[in-house]
Amino acid sequence: MRMVILGAGGRLGAALVREYKRQFDVVGLNRTQLDLAKSDKIRGRLASAQFDLLINCAAFTNVDLCEAKQAEAFAINADAPKVLAEVCSEKRAKLIHFSTDYVFDGEKRQPYIEDDAANPISVYGESKRAGEKLVLRTSDRHLVVRVSWVFGPDRPSFVDAMIRRAREEEKIEAIADKWSTPTYTRDVAEMLPRIFDVEAGLLHLANSGKCSWQEYAQHALDCCQKFEVPLLAKTVGASKLADLKNWVARRPPYSVLSTAKYQTLTGITPRPWRDAVADYIERSYSKKK
Ligand SMILES: NC(=O)c1ccc[n+]([C@@H]2O[C@H](COP(=O)([O-])OP(=O)(O)OC[C@H]3O[C@@H](n4cnc5c(N)ncnc54)[C@H](OP(=O)(O)O)[C@@H]3O)[C@@H](O)[C@H]2O)c1
Repeated sequence: MRMVILGAGGRLGAALVREYKRQFDVVGLNRTQLDLAKSDKIRGRLASAQFDLLINCAAFTNVDLCEAKQAEAFAINADAPKVLAEVCSEKRAKLIHFSTDYVFDGEKRQPYIEDDAANPISVYGESKRAGEKLVLRTSDRHLVVRVSWVFGPDRPSFVDAMIRRAREEEKIEAIADKWSTPTYTRDVAEMLPRIFDVEAGLLHLANSGKCSWQEYAQHALDCCQKFEVPLLAKTVGASKLADLKNWVARRPPYSVLSTAKYQTLTGITPRPWRDAVADYIERSYSKKK
């Protein structure tokens, strides 16, 4: 299979390029090679490329900055995916476009399924939701995959920030009343090919289970202890979403994604987030390896 992966310099895109290069004919493009903010240039840039599948991991992902740069957020997260979807349709290729748990308002307290109504509460969420709709409207062959709390070795995320703080400070805290599911880029890379051919429309993909940021951080520190990663802080105190004053954008308090549809399609249950985080910490931080 010939594949183009956009966002090749990002957390998820870099992981997919690395994993898929072993099995497929892969071209990864970063922002310098294809700037999605210039949607009029996308068609020309991809005109001569030959591919069966285009995976779009590129996005304007800075949730707070999106509030100030609304036009840019919509250009990259909505207008560009529409052009990508059209180009793919013209080439008879499939588009897999990544989206986010932040399309939901977070008022539910059960895992969100694909049929649940999206109701974004930030510019980031609105722009990503607009992108989803434009992709799905273009062709019934394309697939939109929503993921949550993505982590992996190619770009630091929440878990790396907590480990860094625990190395520098004796007391650390994380929010205990915001829930979702950490999702390991390595696991996404492993799970995605199972639905390359079979699925179109909307699909949720995440590791199994749910946690708050405080539970996520505490588990990360516990794993560090297990793998003998030196830390100053051993426990993570609990803080409240309402105490956070420096966020510009609103975030959904609950955005757990149900992977029941993925499990029905593939017969595979994603591995529990605790195992995925432990695996990541052993690979990325442990000196015991
Ligand atoms: N991270 C999460 O927790 C999370 C949660 C839910 C959903 N998602 C979704 O998952 C996907 C992958 O996210 P990620 O975690 O890999 O984010 P990321 O590390 O921020 O990667 C995004 C990539 O998009 C690129 N990009 C930004 N603006 C661009 C432009 N104008 N033209 C071309 N490329 C551009 C970035 O390039 P630079 O490297 O030059 O900045 C970066 O490589 C996104 O669709 C995101 O919305 C992520």
